[in-house]
Amino acid sequence: MFETIRFKLNRKPTVMTVDGERKLLWVLRSDLGLTGAKYGCGEGICGACTVLINNKATRSCQVPVKEIKGKEVITIEGLVRDGKLHPLQKAFLDHDALQCGFCTPGMILSAYSLLLQKDQPTESEIIQGMNDNLCRCGAHVRIVQAIQSAAQEMKGGRKG
Ligand code: FES
Ligand code: FES
Repeated sequence: MFETIRFKLNRKPTVMTVDGERKLLWVLRSDLGLTGAKYGCGEGICGACTVLINNKATRSCQVPVKEIKGKEVITIEGLVRDGKLHPLQKAFLDHDALQCGFCTPGMILSAYSLLLQKDQPTESEIIQGMNDNLCRCGAHVRIVQAIQSAAQEMKGGRKG
């Protein structure tokens, strides 16, 4: 059923008329042209489609768009502020924490959510927190290093 959905997308009020059962991933990618969230498994397993909904890392391939009414969605495109990369984005680049980059938006947004819950996690807390995001290129070690480095950089500084 088509319905009107009002929500905030990357800090901007957004209104759409759309089939409420359509998955958020496809609304973002196909309807709104935000292709940062990736289609991996489509089954909630890989984490490639992760976005933030009310600051919580969420698998957009599993969310009917009607469920985001009145909520705030942040995609990887929304982490750039005033033309500056978020410290997590910068740290992933600085640490070469990617190869093909397919998992990277989901990794960064999951890390963002993790650092909101605990701003200076231990290495094992990072590994545990990121356990459900899969990287087929095997960049996990550098991903953990990038998150540690971003956490240090963000100490007392930019969180959002
Ligand atoms: S595409 Fe959503 S979890 Fe894999
Ligand atoms: S960098 Fe290729 S899937 Fe992670």
